Amino acid sequence: MDDFRLRLGKHELVPIMIGGMGVDISTADLALEAARLGGVGHISDAMINTVTDRRYKTKFVKEKLALYKHNTDSDDKSSVKFDLGQLAEATRLHVENTMARKRGAGMVFINCMEKLTMNAPKETLKVRLATALDAGIDGITLAAGLHLGSFGLIEDHPRFRDAKLGIIVSSVRALQLFLKKNARSNRLPDYVVVEGPLAGGHLGFGMDWAQYDLATIVKEVLLFLQNEKLNIPVIPAGGIFTGGDATEFLQMGGAAVQVATRFTVTKECGLPDEIKQEYFRASEDDIEVNQVSPTGYPMRMIKSSPGIGDGIKPNCEAYGYILDANGKCAYIASWNREKAAHPDLRNPPVWDKTCLCTHMRNFEIWTCGHLTYKLKDTTHRDANGNYQLLSAEHVFKDYQFSVGNTIALPELVLGEVMA
Ligand SMILES: Cc1cc2nc3c(=O)[nH]c(=O)nc-3n(C[C@H](O)[C@H](O)[C@H](O)COP(=O)(O)O)c2cc1C
Repeated sequence: MDDFRLRLGKHELVPIMIGGMGVDISTADLALEAARLGGVGHISDAMINTVTDRRYKTKFVKEKLALYKHNTDSDDKSSVKFDLGQLAEATRLHVENTMARKRGAGMVFINCMEKLTMNAPKETLKVRLATALDAGIDGITLAAGLHLGSFGLIEDHPRFRDAKLGIIVSSVRALQLFLKKNARSNRLPDYVVVEGPLAGGHLGFGMDWAQYDLATIVKEVLLFLQNEKLNIPVIPAGGIFTGGDATEFLQMGGAAVQVATRFTVTKECGLPDEIKQEYFRASEDDIEVNQVSPTGYPMRMIKSSPGIGDGIKPNCEAYGYILDANGKCAYIASWNREKAAHPDLRNPPVWDKTCLCTHMRNFEIWTCGHLTYKLKDTTHRDANGNYQLLSAEHVFKDYQFSVGNTIALPELVLGEVMA
């Protein structure tokens, strides 16, 4: 991969972008390593208030819960609103503290998911985007949604034309729609991440995801841009596991690749270490795409995620990130149905939807890329079956410098394989 560079305006970067992984799975530490090594890293603003509480000792979640505690037994969550000032403060803290630590020639972007509608989609997204720009983020990747109005929310911001702004799409049609709706702003995206069906997190496909393949979609997007004479860097993502895989996409015309799964088992990744071991151990059969996410998008995860089936009481007064413009979340309806069917049970199992806020916050939904089952081949394993964690630098450089489809194992550190 090192024969290639990603050009974003005047910036020349190693063509490796570590994708955003919410809720604080792609930590500031991980993003900063990518930047130090000359690539692009992402932090995420998913559940930013709780992340900021954990990292910077604020009390945003507690304060929101105290304000709406009277509502916890009500099904109607429409009054449970985010304080926009607090949301801005949380975003500012996360972004400013990250950017203050940035070293090296690379960049740090933030992943903003439109599906986090937060009971006031436009107002909250505007605050999230504008505050990230205020706080000095290098760029914003618009994710999990079509973002037809997102440029419009920040077109008056002084950094609208200088910050890097990109969008994730999973089809040429989604890109066409985005460009059409945003033509008025007279500003093209600086890059387009084309995410295929093997990615982690939510998928931009239906349950027929297996019928699609990344290379075909990337070729369609490249052809469309060529026909329209649009010079926008295209960044393939999803299932790019080795430097060799990545180089094929760069030779095809990709400007960089976005990768994530290989970094889920690095020390810098925000997952607790014992869960990183679950990722290492997973076999292909242990991974599924299901519909438990209340966002309505299919999501890929390890089948044994403790959050699947867990019938916890909805926690919208504390969190509430998935509440739509009318204060609804699909999990609330599922929970109510099971409560009515099993009045004797305090927390009846709920299988069709999960309380994504609570479980992502507590690392109980183990979302992952399809190729997670190959992670065990990227490191050493001890006699007890535990795997040695990697460093982000090791994985980054393996992508950058490996030849063919080889994967370099890390130096064996005795005692570092978890006991
Ligand atoms: C654990 C995990 C969490 C993710 N969370 C998000 C997210 O919050 N937002 C998003 O846009 N993409 C998310 N993704 C997708 C990645 O950013 C990336 O595009 C994709 O996983 C790349 O494919 P790979 O994992 O096969 O390398 C996530 C991926 C993983 C593995």
